[in-house]
Formats: sequence, structure tokens, C-alpha cells
Amino acid sequence: MTMRTRPLGTTGPQVSALGLGCMGMSALYGEADRTESIATVHAALEAGVTLLDTGDFYAMGHNEMLIGEALRTAPAARREQALVSVKFGALRGPDGSWLGYDGRPAAVKSFAAYSLQRLGVDHIDVYRIARLDPDVPIEETVGAIADLVEKGYVRHIGLSEVGAATIRRAAATAPVSDLQIEYSLISRGIEDEVLPTVRELGIGITAYGVLSRGLISGHFTADRQLGAGDFRAMSPRFQGDNLRHNLNLVEALRKIAEQKGVSVAQIAIAWVLSRGEDIVPLVGARRRDRLTEALGALEVTLEPADLAAIEEAVPAGAAAGDRYPAAQMAHLES
Ligand SMILES: NC(=O)c1ccc[n+]([C@@H]2O[C@H](COP(=O)([O-])OP(=O)(O)OC[C@H]3O[C@@H](n4cnc5c(N)ncnc54)[C@H](OP(=O)(O)O)[C@@H]3O)[C@@H](O)[C@H]2O)c1
Repeated sequence: MTMRTRPLGTTGPQVSALGLGCMGMSALYGEADRTESIATVHAALEAGVTLLDTGDFYAMGHNEMLIGEALRTAPAARREQALVSVKFGALRGPDGSWLGYDGRPAAVKSFAAYSLQRLGVDHIDVYRIARLDPDVPIEETVGAIADLVEKGYVRHIGLSEVGAATIRRAAATAPVSDLQIEYSLISRGIEDEVLPTVRELGIGITAYGVLSRGLISGHFTADRQLGAGDFRAMSPRFQGDNLRHNLNLVEALRKIAEQKGVSVAQIAIAWVLSRGEDIVPLVGARRRDRLTEALGALEVTLEPADLAAIEEAVPAGAAAGDRYPAAQMAHLES
């Protein structure tokens, strides 16, 4: 398969039309198998995926060290094609607790220094604060990343989960390649204001949660046991009546998928791909079989009749439950 590519905004790099989100290989979705995780990164690179997404706070550096190992053990040509996107700014305690965000310029540079070491690279391709630090103007945080760009430690500046006003302020400070934000059939909040704003400014979207953290993958069942550290154990969309309602939406999607001879996950990913050439879905596969399924979405063409059927099955706003628990919703501008 020849991998299709998409641009990360007008100033960012050309990347594979699907990126690999590596978070679940270290954190938040229960136990992951390290050997299989690294094999999944290698398989993704082999298939032509160029964009790998991580955060320095995903299991406190664990995810970056895992990616570092995967890059070191990949064939040189594959390693060279990889573009690593890193989020920083979330503060963690030794027990894994979440302690807020830090976007001060000195902190930005210190976070970057440690990330470069853990990843074993001489530059980070896209660097972004995970959430706005309410105590630091975005101009200062973005300005610090711009200094890192000038010195060659970072190639491009990204944003994550910020609203239209912050996007405008950031873009007025320095060129911004892409905004990373949740976007899926059941998380369509960006369509009214954020998406028109980034399009006006020539900023791309890297969409996360395109499978709503597995909820709309077609593989999630109501009886699945979730460990205490699993994000989904606390996520409103995975609780009780909300979960039952949301899984009914998945069954409606399954009918459409079956008629097209594809899987539910492929329909969900293909739908995000269909929303514009400026959107790059990040898929959170952490096993090779899930990766293969996700890559299959690139072969799915959604005709206008398919899109209409999907819209009818899962109209905007159809999901029950917020996309984050209340305490985390408070950190979202978007
Ligand atoms: N900027 C931000 O605030 C933010 C927030 C969250 C994530 N992210 C980034 O976005 C990436 C993707 O997010 P996500 O992991 O929540 O996305 P996702 O793709 O919606 O969910 C991933 C989960 O879906 C399940 N799944 C089932 N079938 C799959 C398939 N065919 N392909 C992939 N996954 C399948 C997997 O769970 P099982 O393995 O349990 O089956 C996997 O852990 C993350 O890795 C991270 O890099 C960014």
C-alpha cells in the first residue's frame, strides 16, 4: 500500500494521512504489552505511517522512552521517516497524580531538554503544550517554543485543546502547524467555531479520540472490566446508562459497516478522514491487529449516501455523557 499524505497546516510538514497515537502503549487504557507496542510502532513505520504522537507525561516519560527504543531498533530508513509530535506541560506526582500545567518559558525549555534525551533524537518535529496554563499567556509559551525552533531543537509549533481566541493569539505570535483536538462521530464540538478558525488561519487538525477511546471501535462491550488507572473507568461516556446508549449508537453504525463489508472502527476513522484534507486522525492502536484494521480505513470510500446514513445513525450531539470527567473538563477551552 502506498501511504497517502496530508499537510499539517500551511506551515507544517506533509505527514501520513493517519498518525499513530502512542499514549495507550504506556498509560490510561490498562495494561499494554511493551514488546507488542514496539512491534506496532515498527509495523506502522513499515506501512508508511510517519507521524508518531506522544506526551512527556504519558506514564511520566515511559511513553517517550518506549518510542525512543522503537526508533533505535527500527531500520534506519524507517527511523528517518518518523516525525515525532510531543505534548508537554502536564505536571505529575510520583504516584501518578495530576498537579496542573506549566507553560512558563523556562519550564518549556526544560521539558524539551528532557524529552530530547528520552526520545534519543536531536529535534522534536511538533511541540505543543497539552492544555493552556491559565497563569501564563499563550504568547509566552508559544514564544518559548519559537525560541526552540530558532535553535533547531523543534521544527514546528502545535496547539492542543484550546479555543478560537487562544488559537488566534498563538498564531499571531508564531507560525502554528496544527491543533490537536478530540474529533469523532460522537465528539463534534469543534465544528461550529474551532474548525472554521483553524481553516481561516491555515492551521491543520490532528484529531484524537477518533474511536472515542475504543468506545465506537466496535470492539468495546458493556461487560469489559476496566482497571482503576484506566481513563475509561472514570469517563462519563463509559458509565451505566450512558454506556448503554452509546453502544446502541455503535450497533447502528455496525449495520452500515456490514453493508459496506468493513468494520465499525474503519467507518469511524474513514468518517474523520472524510471531513477534510486538513485533518489527520491519530489512531491509538497498540497492537498490530488493531493497526492493520485502522490502516484499512484508508481504503474505505464514503459515498454521499454512506455519509447520510452515518449522519442519520449518529447525528451530531448523539453521545450521552461529557468527553472528560468534570475536573478535566475544567482544563478544556475547546
Ligand atoms: N491532545 C490531547 O489532549 C490528547 C488526549 C488523548 C489522546 N491524545 C493522543 O491521541 C492518540 C489517540 O487517542 P486515543 O488513543 O484516545 O484514540 P482512539 O483511537 O480513539 O482509542 C484508542 C483505543 O481504541 C481501541 N481500539 C479498538 N480498535 C482499534 C483500532 N482498530 N485501532 C486503534 N484503536 C482501536 C484500543 O483499545 P484496546 O487496545 O483496549 O482495544 C485503543 O486503546 C493518543 O495515543 C494520544 O497520542 C491526545
